[in-house]
Amino acid sequence: MNSRDGKVRVGIVGCGAIANAHVLAYLSSPHVELIGVFDSDGARAEAFAAKHGTTAYPTLQALIDLAPDLVSVATPPGSHTQLTLALLAAGCSVLLEKPPTINLADMDILLAAESESAGSVYVVFQHRHGSGARRAHSLLASGALGVPQVAVCETLWFRPDSYFLPDWRGNWAGEGGGPTLGHGIHQIDLLLHLMGDWDTIDAKASRIARPIEFEDVSMAIVTFANGALGSVVTSLLSPRETSRIRIDTTGGTLEVEHLYGYSDSDWSWFPAPEEVAAASNGRDPGMATTTHGNSDIGDAANPWAVSAGTDVQSNHAAQIHHLIDDLVAGRPHETTLSSTRPTMEFVTALYASSLERASIRRSDLTPDRGFYHRLDGGLDADVVGRRLSVH
Ligand SMILES: NC(=O)c1ccc[n+]([C@@H]2O[C@H](COP(=O)([O-])OP(=O)(O)OC[C@H]3O[C@@H](n4cnc5c(N)ncnc54)[C@H](O)[C@@H]3O)[C@@H](O)[C@H]2O)c1
Repeated sequence: MNSRDGKVRVGIVGCGAIANAHVLAYLSSPHVELIGVFDSDGARAEAFAAKHGTTAYPTLQALIDLAPDLVSVATPPGSHTQLTLALLAAGCSVLLEKPPTINLADMDILLAAESESAGSVYVVFQHRHGSGARRAHSLLASGALGVPQVAVCETLWFRPDSYFLPDWRGNWAGEGGGPTLGHGIHQIDLLLHLMGDWDTIDAKASRIARPIEFEDVSMAIVTFANGALGSVVTSLLSPRETSRIRIDTTGGTLEVEHLYGYSDSDWSWFPAPEEVAAASNGRDPGMATTTHGNSDIGDAANPWAVSAGTDVQSNHAAQIHHLIDDLVAGRPHETTLSSTRPTMEFVTALYASSLERASIRRSDLTPDRGFYHRLDGGLDADVVGRRLSVH
């Protein structure tokens, strides 16, 4: 990182909806110099640059010629690979929006290019970066919350037919995959970040109601390397929307429920009955003594309560500020491209399991399989259609 005067020189490629979250996070960091933006829609880039007090450049190369340290890529998923390759070739680091790529083949092309470049690739998965997930990750990794045994991961959202009116939505060519790739991936990434390696997936993806080429609902059963079992549901047919992860460990239940971002108050820890009883001097082990959220065993005996600190919401600002602080301090940033490969493997295996009607292990996702290259496996459209049918 060639930061000058202690500032990271940042560019943004793609000036659409989510670029607003990037630019506001960068502009609120004292360690960033925003040097310019590029969008293939020049008028959009000009308007965005004028709004945020920066310069619009007419080509990607013109932005690269300024030698930015870091460039956010906030364009549609199908364009991520080519743009990131061009930036890596020039030695720039990249903050790539989710999903990083639309298949494992492209992800491995980027990983190979990254290994040859002075730059690094980071991926936006902002839900790893709120204080709740950071506490959960650290406590689970240390064993302070016990051993995970059961997990539930739900992305129950609602998108009407009209959501799919833009040409690029609702089809494999435009989106690369369905809501499991585009929407559920946030909770799936956080689940895997907290639970660790997974082994096998048994899944069903179905098109129940929406006029689209892929699923509007998927359900998967996943086995984790530590022997835990989990269920993962992604739906666009759920009017009362919620995003939820629940992890039952030998020590208690850890849970977060939110929609598009959480605060500390959206997390709860419910100690297992034996621990509650022991901590409150000899009550019956099975006696329930807690209500949702916080235990009455007292903060000193409650690892979750003890870990509380500043409440950081899970949003783009949380991740971008962590990234900039890490770059300025010369520390590694945790949400690397390679750290997100298990998430892309999970999504790939979910489609493979559903469309091949088989259990899929991580080790099955090899380059000789169609699913490594395309999430529909390269199967004929009518075969995919039949296999997505609920009947
Ligand atoms: N992390 C999150 O919570 C979150 C939320 C929404 C979207 N996203 C992701 O952000 C990305 C962008 O989504 P969006 O909703 O902002 O889309 P958008 O359609 O609003 O904006 C995309 C912009 O990219 C431009 N563009 C397209 N191809 C380009 C290219 N090759 N070079 C330069 N510019 C190009 C378009 O002109 C447009 O201005 C997607 O990967 C999406 O999945 C992430």
